[in-house]
Amino acid sequence: MSRSGFNKMLALKAAFVTESAAIASYHWIGRGNEKAADKAAVDAMRNELNKINIDGEIVIGEGERDEAPMLFIGEKVGTGVGPKIDIALDPLEGTTLTAKNMANALAVMAFSPSGRMLNAPDTYMDKIAIGPGYAPGIINLDNSPTDNILALSSAKGVKPSEITVCVMDRDRHKDLINELRNLDVKISLITDGDVQGIIATTNPSTNIDIYIGRGGAPEGVLAAAALRCVGGQMEGRLHFRNEVEIVRARKVGIDDLDKKYNLDGLASGPAIFSATGVTTGSLLDGVRLDSNYVSTHTLIMNSIDASVQKLRSHRPI
Ligand code: FBP
Repeated sequence: MSRSGFNKMLALKAAFVTESAAIASYHWIGRGNEKAADKAAVDAMRNELNKINIDGEIVIGEGERDEAPMLFIGEKVGTGVGPKIDIALDPLEGTTLTAKNMANALAVMAFSPSGRMLNAPDTYMDKIAIGPGYAPGIINLDNSPTDNILALSSAKGVKPSEITVCVMDRDRHKDLINELRNLDVKISLITDGDVQGIIATTNPSTNIDIYIGRGGAPEGVLAAAALRCVGGQMEGRLHFRNEVEIVRARKVGIDDLDKKYNLDGLASGPAIFSATGVTTGSLLDGVRLDSNYVSTHTLIMNSIDASVQKLRSHRPI
């Protein structure tokens, strides 16, 4: 056990938490009930978190106290004995994916020592991310998609047409998609789940080179915690649709509403990241049930030793 308590043992405990959330939402796969699926994952995650010897605080959670009965921002979790840990979580990243039995739903969580992750409000964030292995500064949120693709393709030593860009399939991305079509890149359109879309840039087997687009800000911080563990580059800027969202941001201490955050600004590390597959996707298999066991597939990333592990667990029913 390291003195800070921030170690591999804690990473395994984090994995147990996301496994439990994924197992709890299994029953709701394909049943068209997003809320029930989410609640099952939230309850299980909270239950498991409260067994861990940490003095934990939710910094990215299900919402504010009055909107979310559990795992709200500011909620204390853990036994209260142990290291001070900030927790970012999305018990069910892809509620719609789960309700519709579509690929890539995950239970996701990240741990960091207190004060290391951006306390992002529940708003949108413009994001751009690439995996490890490139010189710093290749991507820049303030540059056009074209300039970013050209910089990346030149750094990778390939033509733009050999670059694959992950983008959320949303009307708001119409111009972005048109610009990318003109560059003749390959576009991987996803209906939901941009944490997975960003992590995919770190895994060559997915063929995703870069993620661009607007998605949830909390999901942005979770993805940044994953990149913090394995390397990669990311930039993000909060996007507010109305005054309510601005008030929400000020409440969590955001003064500069236009600030561009780099990876350090989003998650300065150290970090532990865990994601368990709920439905089978490009990174992880989903929960499986046979007559005696429930099986899960979990990705654990740890910045302490930059390790990435995939863990298959089988729990007796
Ligand atoms: P849920 O888990 O709440 O279903 O949302 C998942 C998600 O697709 C995120 O991955 C993404 O960041 C966000 O929703 C995008 O929001 P919107 O659906 O409003 O475009």
